[in-house]
Amino acid sequence: MSHFSFAEMKEKNNHTAVGLNHPLHFQQPKPIRKAVIPVAGLGTRFLPVTKTIPKEMLPIVDKPAIQYIIEEALESGIEQIILVNSKGKSAIEDYFDSDTALESFLEQRKKFTELDLMRKLSNLIDIVIARQKKPLGLGHAIHCAQSFVGNEPFAVLLPDDLIKSNVPCLKQLIGAYQEYKANVIAVMEIEKKHAPLYGIIEGQMHADNNRVHLLKNLIEKPSEQKAPSSLAVIGRYILSPALFHCLASTQKGAGGEIQLTDALCELLQQEPIIGYRYEGLRFDVGEKTGFVEANLFFAALRPDMKERLKSFMKQLEF
Ligand code: UTP
Repeated sequence: MSHFSFAEMKEKNNHTAVGLNHPLHFQQPKPIRKAVIPVAGLGTRFLPVTKTIPKEMLPIVDKPAIQYIIEEALESGIEQIILVNSKGKSAIEDYFDSDTALESFLEQRKKFTELDLMRKLSNLIDIVIARQKKPLGLGHAIHCAQSFVGNEPFAVLLPDDLIKSNVPCLKQLIGAYQEYKANVIAVMEIEKKHAPLYGIIEGQMHADNNRVHLLKNLIEKPSEQKAPSSLAVIGRYILSPALFHCLASTQKGAGGEIQLTDALCELLQQEPIIGYRYEGLRFDVGEKTGFVEANLFFAALRPDMKERLKSFMKQLEF
């Protein structure tokens, strides 16, 4: 893969060169205050349980998956969460709301640890709800958050991707956004045979930072042969509000859905996008095996569960 430095990009200058001709909102990068989390999908890969329980509420050990995602956002400096939700999934909203009846019950019974846990949960972060009336796709879901985001760069976190890292994944992306003054999408190295499951980037590696790749193209679910690299897009993004203009004209694409990838390809014609190879271990908790793996992994990190779990695993004869 060829490398680039931002000085070299200046030589080759074109309108998407990083470090040059940035759209106004990148010249003085604004802080990333808001995060959009779309949760309005149907979760068909997780049926039958998702018939009545949102997949985002399925527990990883003892916390719903969505809580890990919101905690990551909080630890990355996000001040407001915009949940894009749909009918029938209000359990997610209720979970982060306060429950005065439960709190006074716990108080009466002197269950102060549990009471403290419940209060911390409802005070976790400012959450607003946007609605997606029909599941028309991820791109459409993000578009539904436009009026809450306004005209400022924002983060997107997909709750299917649970990431264990030293520095929260979103925080790593925000650092890259501030340094390189560009849109940022998280990428991870995959085996090329798995390319048909992901969006794959074609990019040029930064000469001084092998985590940073300047995007030239983005291809949704290519065959192994057509994949331009082994860097796959995963569900963390820092995006400029120009994305909303792209989404406004994005037509239905793969699967008859309005795809975020198509809007990102449009954005790439106007603004620089960087693929950032984050540090961390990612679990796809939107499908069953990844969900079970995440449960085992996070349980094994718990001192109160680790030993028992280890000896149980030893007894299993797979
Ligand atoms: P997925 O395609 O992984 O979620 O979308 P899904 O559609 O719920 O699940 P499957 O494929 O049927 O099993 C990624 C994220 O985007 C949200 C989902 O809730 C998920 O968090 N999403 C997807 C929406 O909010 N609206 C949509 O129309 C589609």
